[in-house]
Amino acid sequence: MEQLMRDMFLFLSKNKVANKAAKKWGLRFGANRFVAGETIKAAISTVKELNEKGIVATLDHLGEFVFSEEEAIESADYCIRTLEAIAEAGVKSNLSLKMTQLGLDISKELCMKNMRRILDCAKRLNNFVRIDMEDYEHNQITMDIFSELREEYGETVGLVVQAYLYKVEQDIDELNKFKPNLRLVKGAYKESPEVAFPAKEDVDRNFIKIIEKHLLYGNYAAIATHDDNVIEHVKKFVKEHNIPFSQFEFQMLYGIRVQRQLELAKEGYTMRVYVPYGNDWYGYFMRRLAERPANVAFVLKSMFKK
Ligand code: FDA
Repeated sequence: MEQLMRDMFLFLSKNKVANKAAKKWGLRFGANRFVAGETIKAAISTVKELNEKGIVATLDHLGEFVFSEEEAIESADYCIRTLEAIAEAGVKSNLSLKMTQLGLDISKELCMKNMRRILDCAKRLNNFVRIDMEDYEHNQITMDIFSELREEYGETVGLVVQAYLYKVEQDIDELNKFKPNLRLVKGAYKESPEVAFPAKEDVDRNFIKIIEKHLLYGNYAAIATHDDNVIEHVKKFVKEHNIPFSQFEFQMLYGIRVQRQLELAKEGYTMRVYVPYGNDWYGYFMRRLAERPANVAFVLKSMFKK
């Protein structure tokens, strides 16, 4: 039953009609539990609150299904405005973004042009931009874009890799030539068993394997998970291998395991929360429900609340 619900939410997350409609609805169905608000102002105020608790952030101006050049340019403008707002407010946050929101489905050139504008701004403001990883269809091209931009912009840009993909270990080996700053995640999209481990135990095992590999290469790791087994394993592993706290951070999503976020920050680990904002919340929200169908109960409650 749970698997069925997961599949249903992942299927719904790709529904372009619902996505378009949701932009006009405002944050609904309890989406505000996972999305910081619709405006930059709301997002910055959330980051301030997190910073006051010793937690840093990465802001994401939500955007998916961008199929016109205008929308892609507008999305890049939002990213730039977000970087500027971070600098103006003096808050501790970097930026996360997706290649499809910058026009990857239109052309790689358009996406690169938008990325260069954003990275020029990030470099000027001494900030950092992380490229989220999307579904498998966009995986290789995203890796190629990252490689090109890493050559041009150095440590201003980072990438995400997904443990559920069979090829991830090979990717980590290949990317090692850049000594990259990677966010390591389990993976959030519905993929075919031809490219990704279907069983959760295999994904969990591979996740630990790639985290260890990346850390032992001496590279910076953003370990993005809410899974206590993984967090405890990492804590032990870094201690055993004398890996300094400055070589890694934990990351979690806004609104998920808030107490655990505070605990990790208090223990002295860098704790970064991914703070999404904007009106394009639908796909992101559906993927969060897919990860934990138990969240549906609270969604139903919020639907019947005035
Ligand atoms: P797992 O799914 O095993 O969950 C462990 C425990 O965490 C659960 O038992 C539950 O208690 C809690 N939990 C997990 N999800 C929850 C939810 N939605 N609501 C409430 N509790 C929940 N993926 C991707 O493909 N590309 C990307 O770029 C990113 N980026 C990214 C950034 C950050 C900061 C995070 C934390 C995650 C991502 N992800 C991602 C998502 C990631 O791939 C994965 O889907 C989720 O993190 C869930 O996996 P966990 O590692 O948390 O473990």
